[in-house]
Amino acid sequence: MAAKNINILGTGAYVPERVLTNEDLEKIVDTSSTWIMERTGIRERRIAAPDEDIVTMGVAAARLALAAAGLEARQLSYIILATNSPNYLYPAAAIRVQDALGLNGVIGAFDLQAGCCGFNYALYVAERLVAQEGKYALVIGSDANSRFTDWTNRSTCILFGDGAGAVVVGPAQKGRIVTSFIASSLNMNLHCETEFNQEVSPFLPPQTHTERHFLTMDGPEVFKFAVGAVKESIRRIMETTQLNREDLDFLILHQANWRILDAGARFAKVPMEKVFVNVDRYGNTSAASVPIALHEAVQEGKIKEGDKVLLVSFGAGATWGAALIEWGK
Ligand code: COA
Repeated sequence: MAAKNINILGTGAYVPERVLTNEDLEKIVDTSSTWIMERTGIRERRIAAPDEDIVTMGVAAARLALAAAGLEARQLSYIILATNSPNYLYPAAAIRVQDALGLNGVIGAFDLQAGCCGFNYALYVAERLVAQEGKYALVIGSDANSRFTDWTNRSTCILFGDGAGAVVVGPAQKGRIVTSFIASSLNMNLHCETEFNQEVSPFLPPQTHTERHFLTMDGPEVFKFAVGAVKESIRRIMETTQLNREDLDFLILHQANWRILDAGARFAKVPMEKVFVNVDRYGNTSAASVPIALHEAVQEGKIKEGDKVLLVSFGAGATWGAALIEWGK
């Protein structure tokens, strides 16, 4: 049975206990807390414990999202997990979440990789699956960026953190996902190569670059792209819905850098009180960033029923996308 109104029915989030402050980073690389605060707005970030990974964090966030939606895990039909930091190329992390939730063999679960925009991509897919089949989907964004960070590179290691966020998507009585889009365009300014066994392959030249499996970034170029992507996303959603920017009640932007949030807010003509900010506490948690921010905004009572909430993210790929939600369930 095709359902008409699809919405986010519950949110959840998990961040590791261990806090890594800017002062801690001063002891690891040649940087200063002041520089990091001024250029990024980040004060501290979380680091996954050795026994944590994208699955354990994702499961913790998922359980909270299910509880908030008032649903049991067995009512789910799909699990879509967005990540950029899988510790296994296969099996998919989503299937390990499925196993942890006791759903082996009953549903379909898969991973999706779209840089820091992964949550928006997964939400886009979930909305369409649910619209067609009238069932419930669990959407998770989970990243353990600390595992792919070059801790000798001050340009990148200051920016990222670990965490997970989750939402349950399903048919709603009130509110709906009004519109959403995803977009991409090849851009290598932010990339991370797979580490494979080039040393032992008789079919490939010997590996020369030992840092290849770390996250690599041209910061200023990515910054320019990010600001452009946020503006383009807001413009596109406004055009599709014929809404004015003043109609937006709350903005959840990908938490990469406070200066990008500020540029997005100015363009959207939304005062900073209506823009959620937790980049100061978590840094950039990639695919987890938007669902963690959404969960915290809901928990703090910043989003009310009927509010028009815009979720915007951008990331490696390059990828960008947005979803306009009329809050309610
Ligand atoms: N501490 C101190 N100095 C640092 C530093 C650090 N952690 N990292 C870089 N610097 C230095 C640089 O070496 C450079 O010095 P130089 O002028 O002597 O060469 C100077 O600071 C300026 O570097 P630059 O990279 O031009 O600064 P910036 O204003 O662009 O800020 C970023 C750097 C990374 C904070 C910023 O470009 C950014 O946020 N980019 C987007 C990143 C992002 O969002 N990525 C994820 C997208 S999903």
